[in-house]
Amino acid sequence: MPDPINRPDHETPTPPQESDFSRRGFLRAVGSAGVSLGVVGAAGQSSAAALPKDAEGKVIAGFNATGGSIPASEKLWQPFSDRKIRVGIAGYGICAFGAAFGFQDHPNVEVVAVTDLIPSRRAKLAKACRCEKTYPSCEEMIKDDTIDAVFIATDAPSHARLAVAALEHGKHVATAVPAVWGSLEDADRLFDAVKKSGLKYMMFETSCYHDDLYAWRERYLAGEFGKIIYSEGEYFHYFGTPLGGYNPKTKKVDVNGWRKGCPPQWYPTHSNAYYVGVTGGSFTQVSCLGMPSIVPHLQAENNAYQNPFGSEVALFRTSEGGMSRMAVTWDIMNGGGERGRVYGQKYETGQVDVRKPPLPPGVSGGGHGGSHGHLMSEFVDAVLRDRKPLVDVAQALNMTVPGIVAHQSALKDGEWMNVPQYLL
Ligand SMILES: NC(=O)c1ccc[n+]([C@@H]2O[C@H](COP(=O)([O-])OP(=O)(O)OC[C@H]3O[C@@H](n4cnc5c(N)ncnc54)[C@H](O)[C@@H]3O)[C@@H](O)[C@H]2O)c1
Repeated sequence: MPDPINRPDHETPTPPQESDFSRRGFLRAVGSAGVSLGVVGAAGQSSAAALPKDAEGKVIAGFNATGGSIPASEKLWQPFSDRKIRVGIAGYGICAFGAAFGFQDHPNVEVVAVTDLIPSRRAKLAKACRCEKTYPSCEEMIKDDTIDAVFIATDAPSHARLAVAALEHGKHVATAVPAVWGSLEDADRLFDAVKKSGLKYMMFETSCYHDDLYAWRERYLAGEFGKIIYSEGEYFHYFGTPLGGYNPKTKKVDVNGWRKGCPPQWYPTHSNAYYVGVTGGSFTQVSCLGMPSIVPHLQAENNAYQNPFGSEVALFRTSEGGMSRMAVTWDIMNGGGERGRVYGQKYETGQVDVRKPPLPPGVSGGGHGGSHGHLMSEFVDAVLRDRKPLVDVAQALNMTVPGIVAHQSALKDGEWMNVPQYLL
């Protein structure tokens, strides 16, 4: 039998400990269902044939980890509004992310327009979302006054620019990670644009709805851990060859896409969520080390970022005064995954309900640990109820920006640096 831990394309989430699920009913249900984390979950999962694959034909890490081993809440999803939010979706790249979160299946959503710069992808996204209206670009789509909200699933370097533009056009914004791409100025611009608009902004950080992180967050909020003394997170994704993607320079999809050789800590949200997403806190200071890579495209002379590192490991001071170790790597072959752990001053196990909220009929948890449907549902709910979404702009930037500073620190051999703070 193949060893899943040592398969570079395989995500192996940390199995939650028994004490993480305080209700006996959960444990009974998990046991009797005989399902395990990381294996296809209960509801509506895609077949392997439909999952996005890289150039070597391997399923892209994360999409095969559907989670869902914790039973859904017994409470059925309750409809509370007849409103249908009119949503526009941008981006149907190699990860086919535009259609992956189930906006098209939510009873309170109508996907009224979609876009991708590449016509064939635009057509596929329209088909996947059962939507007739298409625009040639996100820039054109956001001019449509009938659209209430957009989901930005384009290449990472375009997120901040498109999000700010959409907010300026009066649209709520959901975006794939990260919130900004290597730019502290963009972070401030995005923060100001959200505040000025008064609209909802949410970053779809998939780790936030991993079974374990979600449970730890609920328990943290209930005081079961006290402060978090130490936390750690990893995003290990081996790129022996570049994963093709959109190339903002050539405006084409090619092997020199935005991911090629990017500084690992510019993509820090999957790991940083294992502190920020649990506590709602932030990182205040960082010292980060990097190691030059033996993988050719991860060498400074071979990528557009002049990035010399294939792996970067950051030590953060947290806003609670604790410590956090967050690692992102593109050149470690074994142990691929998006996971983490938290350790608090206390370890109480009470009666906290750690089950994720119920989902509307037709919406499933989906990929990346059963997170997709929950992120979308949370965003829609926040818009309908006019409340703060789970990963709002402050939390999005408190997950993203520390990585940008961490990379600066790594370039200075671990010099301690202050991290900008975002508070709403
Ligand atoms: N676990 C996760 O949260 C996770 C996993 C995978 C990907 N992602 C994120 O999803 C996003 C998409 O990833 P991908 O690998 O599919 O990217 P990609 O580079 O393969 O594709 C990006 C697509 O966006 C389109 N696009 C770019 N600018 C546009 C514009 N102005 N208007 C309309 N379309 C535009 C491009 O034509 C392209 O098809 C990225 O931001 C990535 O970081 C997140």
